[in-house]
Amino acid sequence: MSLDSLIRSKVLNGKRTVAIVCNQFGDTGKGKFIDLLSTWADVIARGTGGANAGHTIKIGGVEHIFHLIPSGILHDKDGKYNIIGRGVVLDPRVVVEELDLLDKAGLSYDLLRLSMNAKLVLPQHIVIDRVREAKTGKEIGTTGRGIGPCYEDQTGRRGLTLNDILNRDIFVRKLKRNLAHYNTVLSALDPDMQNTKKIMEHEHLANGAYFSQTRRFDLDAIVEMYTAVYAGRIGSMITDVEARLRDFAGKKKILLEGAQGYLLSVDYGFHPYVTSSDASIEGLAKGVGLRVQDADLVLGIVKAPYMTRVGAGPFPTEYGGERSEKHCQGEGMTLDREQALYPDNALNHDDEFLRGIAIRKAGSEKGATTGRPRRVGRLDLPLLRYAAQTNGNKVILTKLDVFDESDAIEICKAYVYKGPAYRMGKYTLKQGHILFCAPQDPEILKHSIPIYGKLPGWKQKTSDIKTYAALPQKMRDLVEYIERKAKVEVVMISLGPEREQTIVRGGIGSD
Ligand code: GDP
Ligand code: IMO
Ligand code: MG
Repeated sequence: MSLDSLIRSKVLNGKRTVAIVCNQFGDTGKGKFIDLLSTWADVIARGTGGANAGHTIKIGGVEHIFHLIPSGILHDKDGKYNIIGRGVVLDPRVVVEELDLLDKAGLSYDLLRLSMNAKLVLPQHIVIDRVREAKTGKEIGTTGRGIGPCYEDQTGRRGLTLNDILNRDIFVRKLKRNLAHYNTVLSALDPDMQNTKKIMEHEHLANGAYFSQTRRFDLDAIVEMYTAVYAGRIGSMITDVEARLRDFAGKKKILLEGAQGYLLSVDYGFHPYVTSSDASIEGLAKGVGLRVQDADLVLGIVKAPYMTRVGAGPFPTEYGGERSEKHCQGEGMTLDREQALYPDNALNHDDEFLRGIAIRKAGSEKGATTGRPRRVGRLDLPLLRYAAQTNGNKVILTKLDVFDESDAIEICKAYVYKGPAYRMGKYTLKQGHILFCAPQDPEILKHSIPIYGKLPGWKQKTSDIKTYAALPQKMRDLVEYIERKAKVEVVMISLGPEREQTIVRGGIGSD
């Protein structure tokens, strides 16, 4: 049976709306699985985040990376709708850039539709995002794509929607009001405008065309670009996609494409080290105008037996701890540079910082949006149990092949608290307390020292194996250990970036 038929019969059988979300800090392989399940779907829809995402699809050795356009776009030629919903913060520049790439590759996008209610990313969002990060020494480590400020404008009730680019007068009125806000904020953060000017010279900001020496932002330049250039290119794709999706629900096969990861969710992550949308199934369903209960299968993607994080924030299981965090955030650090700096690294090295570098290399763990080295750590079961509370217990494990040469596998089962006494209501958390659940407060998480369970490695190449039964016994033991300890059900296993490097475990609920 082909992989496609196996997935249809064992995983998707009878389902109408299926969601792919990430149960960790993003970058778990959503792109690969969206592409894989797109052959089944009639419609692929994104509902959260924006160009902060980087979803990689590898087909026949060729890599495609999408930031904004759904990863199902490669199936447009087969009559699949690709939709961006209202929950997304949409930067038209990025859409146009991705359309240009599709044109160059000779790929069609006839059925790409954009929500008229998507939140519009404007130059001032990107500027303030970058000014704030520069001012705080990259406190959050954002992707600099204007994501946070654009979502802030929604709750601050001063945002623009994508449809506004089609109505010049309304666009100008709303833009003036919005710019008044940012001019006030920036006059305090950057009074002489030097930072703004420098940031605006970037190609993401029309190479300086939006800068005005007198008004900071050149209103006319923004209006021209958005209401003429961008509207001309993407105007015909803008429509009421939510109404269409509600109509499709239960009738057509819908695939919901999550972005970011549960542990970065603004609602469930560890403030302030989060993104600004709800990356859980709840945010995703809402972001395309559906209800959570419309999704009759939610698949949470989990890297194993390691996980990654890009940007700042607590990461208890990180190989090399603080040293690794600082190293990965170092100015201009790349995977090539770290290999030159630390050539003596290996998956079984005694020094865990060097082990981390070896894992990063074996898994090609560099940010698909920013190129930053991704921080790597051991799989964290309390955090996985936490994500499964919202995203459900069906999971896909990815990247196990990265550990093919590892002697042993460490997995975090619980933590011991090592911080100062910390009040939680009438309870006081003290040094030495054991924590079995995910501490949702970063003040606790950053002082939580993992307790690891140790399993033997399988020491065998696995990327060509096609069935669960043919996997090394020690890898199966690991899979079943994760299932038992995190109370999840592993539905599929990924052993490489290519479509065919996927194992279907069994029928949902059948084993
Ligand atoms: P996303 O943001 O969740 O879509 O994930 P990314 O595309 O940012 O990062 C996942 C990376 O891992 C990509 O480079 C994929 O090609 C790659 N990948 C996906 N699954 C596997 C796997 O099972 N094994 C290996 N070695 N690489 C994988
Ligand atoms: P995908 O969809 C990994 C992280 C950033 C930063 C924090 C806030 O590819 O899994 P933002 O620019 O969103 O305000 O940054 O969130 N981040 C991601 N990390 N994968 C992503 O997306 C991410 N999107 C945002 O690194 O720590
Ligand atoms: Mg990614």
